[in-house]
Amino acid sequence: MADCNGDCAACASKGSCSTPKEDPVKPTLERIKHVFVVLSGKGGVGKSTVAANLALGLRLRGQAVGLLDVDVHGPSIPKILGLQGQRAMGDGEKLIPLETAEGLKVMSTGLILEKEDEPIVWRGPLKAGVIKQFIGEVRWGDLDYLIVDCPPGTGDEPLSICQLIPSAEAILVTTPQQVATLDVSKSITFCNQLGLRIAGVIENMSGFTCPHCGTFTPIFKTGGGEALAKRYGLPFLGKLPIATEIGESGDEGKPFVAAHPDTPAAKAFMAAVDNLLSIG
Ligand SMILES: Nc1ncnc2c1ncn2[C@@H]1O[C@H](COP(=O)(O)OP(=O)(O)O)[C@@H](O)[C@H]1O
Ligand SMILES: [Mg+2]
Repeated sequence: MADCNGDCAACASKGSCSTPKEDPVKPTLERIKHVFVVLSGKGGVGKSTVAANLALGLRLRGQAVGLLDVDVHGPSIPKILGLQGQRAMGDGEKLIPLETAEGLKVMSTGLILEKEDEPIVWRGPLKAGVIKQFIGEVRWGDLDYLIVDCPPGTGDEPLSICQLIPSAEAILVTTPQQVATLDVSKSITFCNQLGLRIAGVIENMSGFTCPHCGTFTPIFKTGGGEALAKRYGLPFLGKLPIATEIGESGDEGKPFVAAHPDTPAAKAFMAAVDNLLSIG
């Protein structure tokens, strides 16, 4: 028996039918070539910043890209991309992602909540349901890449994503110092246990070059993420420096790689994007 897509005669007359409904996740995923989940062991290492700028960088390289923010406790993607205060609308059947000026499609819990600054209590099954809806019931269309920004740690969200999207791959973000790389080692073990392939490691906040005198200061040291990638035999996607424009862009809602393309930090982001493109 063919699956019902929700508009058969029985659905129309009785409001329900006994024909099995087609799971909307599968047909959605069939139209998405690559799914990358951005993970880290710690909060505040720049995961959302990296997810947003990698997605935008891929878009600037001509790819069709979606960015999904599944951080239900602190969705920061709308703010980083200047979409704060906007709401995603439905077309009667599915949710329509918002689009940045560059054509990056975006969906986030922050775009569907009544009040975006209200803390929300989500239980595990509810979170899993939201993630499923965000994948199956959002009109993503044909995408080359879907980038998923996860909350920190090894919790329900990456687990749900691995179960829903067996082909997803992880991008691990760390800062260079040992406390952060230790946490990322835990994420590597987590990915291995789930069978989630790791596409590569990104080292964020890797030193600061003074824009006035040109002196380089490794504030959180440098090289820790690269050494970690080497130790675990993982691809290293690149080092991103600390740059005041990154924080400012995030606060002002101006997507960094598009707003400051000529800075060394934006070039470092684009080099990471090109590394990602070269691996698939
Ligand atoms: N390379 C960087 N240089 C300067 N500021 C950064 C950089 N990466 C991230 N930030 C800032 O650090 C803070 C935390 O980043 P965020 O992406 O929200 O981290 P996470 O998602 O891991 O919690 C934000 O204010 C962001 O603007
Ligand atoms: Mg975040």
